[in-house]
Amino acid sequence: MQRRPEEVAAATAKAAATVVLAVNGKRYEAAGVDPSTTLLEFLRTHTPVRGPKLGCGEGGCGACVVLVSQYNSATDEVTEFSASSCLTLLRSIDRCSVTTSEGIGNTKDGYHAVQQRLSGFHASQCGFCTPGICMSIFSALVKADKVASRPTPPTGFSKLTTSEAEKAVSGNLCRCTGYRPVVDACKSFAADVDLEDLGLNCFWRKGNEPATVSKLPGYNSGAVCTFPEFLKSEIMSSRENANGAAVAVSSDDWYHPESIEELHRLFDSNWFDENSVKIVASNTGSGVYKDQDLYDKYIDIKGIPELSVIISSSKGIELGSVVSISKAIEVLSDGNLVFRKIADHLSKVASPFVRNTATIGGNIIMAQRLSFESDIATVLLAAGTTVTIQVASKRLCLTLEDFLQQSPCDSRTLLMSIFIPNWDSDGITFETFRAAPRPFGNAVSYVNSAFLARTSADAASGENLMEDICLVFGAYGIDHAIRASKVEAFLKGKPVSSSVILKAVQLLKETVSPSEGTTHPEYRISLAVSFLFTFLSSLTKSVNEPAKVNVINGSYTNGTGDTSSGYSLKEHLKVDRNYLPIHSRQEMVFGDEYKPVGKPIKKVGAELQASGEAVYVDDIPVPKGCLYGAFIYSTRPHAHVKGINFKSSLASQKVITVITAKDIPRGGQNIGSSYPMLGEEALFADQVVEFAGQNIGVVIAETQWYAYMAAKQAVVEYSTENLQPPILTIEDAIQQNSYFQIPTFLSPKPVGDYDQGVSEADHTLSAEVKLESQYHFYMETQVALAIPDEDNCITIYSSAQFVEITQDLVARCLGIPFHNVRVITRRVGGGFGGKAMKAIHIACACAVAAFKLQRPVKMYLDRKTDMIIVGGRHPMKAKYSVGFKSDGRITALHLDLGLNAGTAPDLSAILPTNIISSFIKYNWGALAFNIKLCKTNVSSKTTMRAPGDVQGSFIAEAIIEHVASVLSVDTNTIRRKNLHDFKSLAVFYGESVGEASTYTLATMFDKLALSPDYQHRATMVEHFNNSNKWKKRGISCVPITFEVRLRAAPGKVSIMNDGSIAVEVGGVEIGQGLWTKVKQMTAFGLGQLCADGGECLLDKVRVIQVDTLSVIQGGFTGGSTTSENSCEAVRQSCLILVERLKPVKESLEAKGGTVEWSALIAEASMASANLSAHAYWNPDPTSSSYLNYGAGISEVEVDVLTGATTILRSDLVHDCGQSLNPAVDLGQVEGAFIQGVGFFTDEEYKTNADGMVIHDGTWTYKIPTVDTIPKQFNVELINSAPDKKRVLSSKASGEAPLLLASSVHCAMREAIRAARKEFSVCTGPANSAVTFQMDVPATMPVVKELCGLDVVERYLQSVSAGTSSATA
Ligand SMILES: Cc1cc2nc3c(=O)[nH]c(=O)nc-3n(C[C@H](O)[C@H](O)[C@H](O)COP(=O)(O)OP(=O)(O)OC[C@H]3O[C@@H](n4cnc5c(N)ncnc54)[C@H](O)[C@@H]3O)c2cc1C
Ligand code: FES
Ligand code: FES
Repeated sequence: MQRRPEEVAAATAKAAATVVLAVNGKRYEAAGVDPSTTLLEFLRTHTPVRGPKLGCGEGGCGACVVLVSQYNSATDEVTEFSASSCLTLLRSIDRCSVTTSEGIGNTKDGYHAVQQRLSGFHASQCGFCTPGICMSIFSALVKADKVASRPTPPTGFSKLTTSEAEKAVSGNLCRCTGYRPVVDACKSFAADVDLEDLGLNCFWRKGNEPATVSKLPGYNSGAVCTFPEFLKSEIMSSRENANGAAVAVSSDDWYHPESIEELHRLFDSNWFDENSVKIVASNTGSGVYKDQDLYDKYIDIKGIPELSVIISSSKGIELGSVVSISKAIEVLSDGNLVFRKIADHLSKVASPFVRNTATIGGNIIMAQRLSFESDIATVLLAAGTTVTIQVASKRLCLTLEDFLQQSPCDSRTLLMSIFIPNWDSDGITFETFRAAPRPFGNAVSYVNSAFLARTSADAASGENLMEDICLVFGAYGIDHAIRASKVEAFLKGKPVSSSVILKAVQLLKETVSPSEGTTHPEYRISLAVSFLFTFLSSLTKSVNEPAKVNVINGSYTNGTGDTSSGYSLKEHLKVDRNYLPIHSRQEMVFGDEYKPVGKPIKKVGAELQASGEAVYVDDIPVPKGCLYGAFIYSTRPHAHVKGINFKSSLASQKVITVITAKDIPRGGQNIGSSYPMLGEEALFADQVVEFAGQNIGVVIAETQWYAYMAAKQAVVEYSTENLQPPILTIEDAIQQNSYFQIPTFLSPKPVGDYDQGVSEADHTLSAEVKLESQYHFYMETQVALAIPDEDNCITIYSSAQFVEITQDLVARCLGIPFHNVRVITRRVGGGFGGKAMKAIHIACACAVAAFKLQRPVKMYLDRKTDMIIVGGRHPMKAKYSVGFKSDGRITALHLDLGLNAGTAPDLSAILPTNIISSFIKYNWGALAFNIKLCKTNVSSKTTMRAPGDVQGSFIAEAIIEHVASVLSVDTNTIRRKNLHDFKSLAVFYGESVGEASTYTLATMFDKLALSPDYQHRATMVEHFNNSNKWKKRGISCVPITFEVRLRAAPGKVSIMNDGSIAVEVGGVEIGQGLWTKVKQMTAFGLGQLCADGGECLLDKVRVIQVDTLSVIQGGFTGGSTTSENSCEAVRQSCLILVERLKPVKESLEAKGGTVEWSALIAEASMASANLSAHAYWNPDPTSSSYLNYGAGISEVEVDVLTGATTILRSDLVHDCGQSLNPAVDLGQVEGAFIQGVGFFTDEEYKTNADGMVIHDGTWTYKIPTVDTIPKQFNVELINSAPDKKRVLSSKASGEAPLLLASSVHCAMREAIRAARKEFSVCTGPANSAVTFQMDVPATMPVVKELCGLDVVERYLQSVSAGTSSATA
């Protein structure tokens, strides 16, 4: 019987609006939920679940991953898959079961092995990404264990393989850990793992104890019920009631047609309006194209059976349009070569949790209608795919090529299925290519392509004869993938020789023409050329296989010759960027002088973080009546704001009010951030906006989603009348003399007599190097919750690093005394400096709104807004003039530095000192500089992990390399020649140098760079480069010095009557392991009262949240030393308690032997001893700063054809003194290094011509992922020399290791230099193959450009002319 939409809506009205699902085994009925509600929003607002987090809202980060299970009552089968809950619409998963991280393990029921292993392998720092990672791993285990064909794994393992383990988390971003420990935790489940190969963990003492599975938390496949029985019964009974048919949930806002006819009747009804009805399959497209308005009506086409067909026949494979990409991969993987290649390419589309739901049809429609840079359209087009579409009552079958070429289809066009023909393999060659910053996917490609050729042997020429060919290119800035028909026509019938390839390549360059505005057009063209060349050269005998690695000579060794770690050298010879297993080694000494300080105990709360129970600001249950805010920001750099209006739209109807500068209470100030003596920044633009991205107001709505959407509807009216044009660049600022003053106390001092230094030099040279900005990409965006309280008071929960200053500024904003403001911060989901000054703006904005409305107000910024307003690192330009002797000794250096500080001072004034202090790791002879903090009309730049230090250290390396290249000597020789001796160190660093015995950098460098191991590796790199044309390697060893400054800090230790201990410090736990170190220090400090030195106290200590009214003068969290400062304050508090408790202990001992802790405290409590102590530690000014040393060797391989870089190996040595907790410090070293790798290689924080950030999401901003970290990642923590002036002889680890990442950039330059020499590329100002500058970040286009965009043509020309060996 046919159903009319109105009928269905009426008939199912009750069931309709009700979605039933199980969440962690519990039944939920969602009635009357807005159809645009995502699963994530539902989970977080309608259930107690907090594990899935909002990190991006676009499928690009994995913080929201859950396991979705579907039950097929006909077959009684449950299918499970991971999904991004931020893109999954709640209504689309009716009668499904959802498992979140809390569902697999929690505090009450016990933790799951995944959670325990993640924490035991130290794989969680801030923990914000951890529940998502946990669910990606869990889903991979569930999937692998269901493969019946795999043998039963040994107890404790799963059927997962190590290679699958690495890929399991390929879509999950983590900004803290650097992924290595995450991979180890995941690999620990793989049946083929060598457990000895896994890194530092809490399960066995590496090197001392054998690694066995019995020591790992047990894993039982199937122990977690993913689909509860009650829901199965419900599904079965509803099927029975519906006479066997599955119940389709439809309502007047969510329609779920069960047939094409029903869909068409719907299209024809009054209900349908293409502007307000959204047609969805799995809705992942909303991660790519963000909705601009709310929809109140949806059509879910997944219930139409014909769209789910999978038919495999001798003719080919037909896939219904709603078949998921993962399912398509599964089906195609079983097919012939062409199918398998397609499957392989598809496995690099998006990430596992997106592919599991994203449909093939949705992708093709996006490509056809919206010019999406689809991989799928490209590869299917080359494979001769046809599509079936339904337009009105007509069903059409046409080639994919014709379909793509048609004008964009309307919303009534339904893609039914695709058909990929079967290609017999005789004479057929099929290859696909993509060049993207991440090899495993989760990054759209610069160019993708797929080629299918039929060749036969040509007796005459001895070459292959091209009988037929299809060449497809896409994603390069074109409406859709296209065939290069001219090139195809040219090639047909010709023998594939080098001269033919050359001509084909030249023709291709005329075809591939990126549209105006496409970034890196020349690069994209050269990529297309590289792909075609790679493909055609594999079909010819006259040129060698392009990316072939010469195994015999081009050997890559692990340097140590150590194969005991279970992998073979041979493995590494076959470098395949797409899959290289990750190996690691950690070396450290565990000090037990101060135990339990010094033990590598696991991070406090790591399991809580993994289970998702750890509470971040957005997880705090909001009070009744809470409203939500979203910023309206300026899109102009300098303009009068004439008014704010809203478009007429559904989302606009959600606006409750808009808070602006006018709402600052009388007596309050319009102030968003400020630091004593450095200056202030306004909270809201008042009449004139000063930069694109400035807050103009806050839209207030009933839900956070409504607030986001409503803010998008704002239309701000601007005028630029009587205003100066904006100053946007460093050059503009210099021209206009627009600077911030650097306070004298923060101005670094020159060293020596520059003119004299120049006069001593044999040579001088000068050049310029540029470094761009970097975004923090903490996983938790800026967030605050403000709750007005009695008597003009307010409580703010803020994800802040500067909690004390937040309190001050909220009070100033509201015009109330500081004691009326209580700011509480429990934990921060990553900060890296971005939640220093910038978080204060959000807290203040919430406070102003909450005060005005007298209701709680929360703001959790969406990723885009966060990226636009936060500012990031300082872009800078360095011009240097260096004088040096012929032996390489530098005698004088002048540095002209321009920093783009943006519109407000923020903390920019600290940059000059930081830059210079890391820059002077070398003895420059005499040093002079001129540093300008440029005031411009862009967002104010802020602190980011190692602010200025990382740039200073890098600039130093660029100069050293420049000198080396001009003198034609090895860079390490110049490095070593100019490293300080202690005398010159003291001249440059003054008091920070400490004792001569503590200067270890030169010895550390010698140990690494002069070692036979390094020399051997350098020789092997040279061999490799001599025998490989298209891949080049480079190796580099970089020393670093980092100046650390201690600060005053408070600590408070309170012992409860039961002996448990609560500790408060001023520092915030931002993932750096502060709580863990503080806990150890408390146990150590009170340990004098315990027989075992305090180990028994570890479990009794709880470090609690920062509360500005409980512990005052908390200062800030940053600068690497918060842990040390807080630890020392706590130690001093403990000393006070020990003093008080010792007499009690002695009197008890006098009565009878050893005294248990609990008895001691009970006695002290009875005696009314004060069991709480507070200390405010002030470091000794004569030793309050010191130097951190380190060195890093990186070896990379650059693909000359694509510009892709693979970090083959990094070896880091970091001196963290006598580590307070080596596991925590190791995590800091690895995490900082990988963050640095992002800065130096892939992270492009691009702005438009108005200075507005346009790389504003996971789509365009690429932080490192698991597939981009070093394939061998070794870290050594050393304690170079005991130093009693330090806190228990320890040193910092938070920021310094980030500087080591410049070793990757330096190694890349070495590799590029080899490529330039090979192809005689002399681009750049020096017009030399060996001397060139490479700016930061060195993205794929930058690398390729330096290697030569035209190397393929050059090579082919030389081969064709017979001047080059054909077997190069
Ligand atoms: C983080 C992320 C990374 C990605 N990376 C890549 C990548 O590297 N390469 C790549 O190729 N793709 C990539 N994609 C795109 C992804 O493949 C598509 O989002 C997905 O396939 C769309 O399928 P869907 O079912 O979710 O479509 P939906 O979002 O439901 O729909 C998308 C559009 O297609 C329409 N539509 C859907 N099905 C049909 C149909 N059968 N007939 C008519 N119209 C229909 C919808 O109305 C809508 O307009 C990525 C996506 C995300 C979120
Ligand atoms: S929040 Fe869903 S993938 Fe980032
Ligand atoms: S621990 Fe992964 S983002 Fe912080």
